[in-house]
Amino acid sequence: MTALYPSNKMKMLAKCPAGLENALSQELSDLGAESIEVLNRAVAFEGDKHLLYSANYQCRTALRILLPIHQFTILTEDDLYTSIKAVKWEDYFSVDNTFAIDSTISNAVFTHSHYVSQRTKDAIADRFREKTGKRPSVDTVNPDFMINIHLNKDLLDLSFDSSGSSLHKRGYHISNAEAPLSEVLAAGMIMLSGWDGQSTFIDPMCGSGTILIEAAMIAMNLPAGQFREEFGFMKWKDFNRAIWEDVLNEGIEQQRDIEIEILGSDISGSNLRSAEANLRQARLHKDISIKVSPFQDIIPPDPPGVLITNPPYGERIMIEDITSLYKDLGNLLKRRFAGYKAWVISSDLQALKMIGLKPMKKHILFNGQLECRFVGFDLYDGSKKAAKQ
Ligand SMILES: C[S@@+](CC[C@H](N)C(=O)[O-])C[C@H]1O[C@@H](n2cnc3c(N)ncnc32)[C@H](O)[C@@H]1O
Repeated sequence: MTALYPSNKMKMLAKCPAGLENALSQELSDLGAESIEVLNRAVAFEGDKHLLYSANYQCRTALRILLPIHQFTILTEDDLYTSIKAVKWEDYFSVDNTFAIDSTISNAVFTHSHYVSQRTKDAIADRFREKTGKRPSVDTVNPDFMINIHLNKDLLDLSFDSSGSSLHKRGYHISNAEAPLSEVLAAGMIMLSGWDGQSTFIDPMCGSGTILIEAAMIAMNLPAGQFREEFGFMKWKDFNRAIWEDVLNEGIEQQRDIEIEILGSDISGSNLRSAEANLRQARLHKDISIKVSPFQDIIPPDPPGVLITNPPYGERIMIEDITSLYKDLGNLLKRRFAGYKAWVISSDLQALKMIGLKPMKKHILFNGQLECRFVGFDLYDGSKKAAKQ
């Protein structure tokens, strides 16, 4: 069998949501990655198999970790079929494994990614049939082997997807409230805020609790994949259990207890029940306190601390209600959060202005397809005085 990576060191590509590239690059550097290059919604890096496993297990802002295998020039449809068929697929997975293909294309001779996936699938299946007399099956839901194709103009990058399902699926989110944030985005927001896990953390519109759980995981230094049972690389022919166990042991050793308060609240009892279920699933229900309350009634502990929240954006709420909700949030911050830092994510730029505070920092992030601003406020004591005037 051909090793997936013949030399110790291999090139890898971590994908992430737009705006989180620098946070991911820092995470990879902390794990010992070399030759790091920040790209658009991705970070390229080099490292060994240990790093491949730990990047999957530890990186909070990565969506998937790809292992580029081949690059082909594709000028015609036939080039696609013959190049893919020439790969020694039988070295990488067996005919009894299931596989799936994820294709993205830009500016290429092909206009449909579905067609590229289909031809790739045919080429792989035909090769297996010629070699073994059997065809492997496609399973788009839970495949044993995930293949990633990126076709840009006439250059095709073929990669193996070492993550399997997207890394935002941490394994703790068992109950959904309305409009939950992606776990990767929530973790990225906390990292962008600069919170060091040493002071009070508050989300007063916590919904299903995603931001709170990610905050507790950061404060306790729990690996992002702590609650996840499966990664794609575990089904690879050359999966090395000893290296994986080292990665798991390092994940246990790095953990620390927290002495800070992590507090969440939400006006909706049913959303809070979702949060409760997720907190329990993450076994963090003793470390995070949640209660039903309108944020307007919150009295926070003494500073220092950080508030990070994801209010409603107005897709389902009347404009007047949204305006008064953001005004109320601004008043709360000015009157009761002096000495804190506060961060708000929203796609509604007009509503964000209603907070009535001058931002110290802004980031552009995407919540799904929605372009958002993630805006930070430094609530020095002066803003409290200003609010009283
Ligand atoms: C976009 S959702 C938050 C989703 C959350 N980040 C998650 O990942 O599940 C907005 C939340 O704000 C809550 N909310 C709306 N008005 C509120 C208020 N006045 N006080 C507290 N929570 C409020 C809603 O019940 C909803 O759960």
